[in-house]
Amino acid sequence: MKNQILKILKEEDKYISGEDISKALNVSRTAVWKHINELRKDGYTIESSSKKGYRFLEAPDIPDKREISIPQGQMIGADIQHFDEIDSTNNYAKKIANEGCAHGTVVVAEKQTTGRGRIGRQWQSDTSEGIWFSIVLRPEMKPEDLQVITLAASVAVVEAIEETLGIVCGIKWPNDIIIDGKKLGGILTELSAEPGHVNYVVVGIGINANQDLEHFDYEIRQKAISLKMCKGETVSRSNLLGSILTNFEEVYKGVLLGKNKEIIDRWTKYSVTIGKEVKIAYRNMEYIGTAQSVASDGRLIVQCKDGVTREISAGEIQV
Ligand code: BTN
Repeated sequence: MKNQILKILKEEDKYISGEDISKALNVSRTAVWKHINELRKDGYTIESSSKKGYRFLEAPDIPDKREISIPQGQMIGADIQHFDEIDSTNNYAKKIANEGCAHGTVVVAEKQTTGRGRIGRQWQSDTSEGIWFSIVLRPEMKPEDLQVITLAASVAVVEAIEETLGIVCGIKWPNDIIIDGKKLGGILTELSAEPGHVNYVVVGIGINANQDLEHFDYEIRQKAISLKMCKGETVSRSNLLGSILTNFEEVYKGVLLGKNKEIIDRWTKYSVTIGKEVKIAYRNMEYIGTAQSVASDGRLIVQCKDGVTREISAGEIQV
């Protein structure tokens, strides 16, 4: 009901009387008043006048389904589940995926108590200053072909940041989003699969949006950056998330159509890895070489100094 009232207020865009709202929704004027107060507690600014009724003024920047706009019919984000606090959006997304949630369901949280990064690392996400979310996918693909989904996700993120904020980020293979050599965001892809069959994939994305430098833990302060630090002003998390989900829908369709080359070309445009000397920690070994390209399955091709060309599918690189 509260959200139906919000919809009416937003559509009206001028004063509307409590009586008109109550008639439109077939509820009492007291109920309307109660829900309007709840919306105010949620952070909405709604003006009221005893003569004219209510008028919508401003929405809070909470990336939930009320504030994220995506095109009609889009599957990615058709269901958005928003939490004030959760352990990890990836954990919750895996839980609901096991229970059968729809392809494209998005889990987003204001704070994560145990946000996780790649290679068993922690991901600092203890404030509402970031965009912390996970997308559940049910691709008809072989498990070994999935790496390109992570590359597609980083393409969706960097293109959305460029389109909505005009900031051009870099991508460090496979999925670190970088500005000025510092980490803006990352992607943690997890899956449930059997030989030859994928049950589901969870793509977890974390983006530092509105942190100031001192909000990062001391240990990562030298290495982390936020969009606000880069732009000099607070950015809208809801706008950016809407744009990422819409871009991801498009690029994910490309994955299903086997357009890996096109996706990798788009990824390479933002790459800060290709053509650079890299140090790779891989299967307890360390190699130094030049990153040459990304293969159609997403693996990084490195011409190593020992003369061997290696295709790296996992691990950590230093550029
Ligand atoms: C990395 O670069 O190491 C990946 C970081 C991924 C963080 C995101 S935040 C939303 C989702 N939930 C998690 O617990 N992790 C991912």
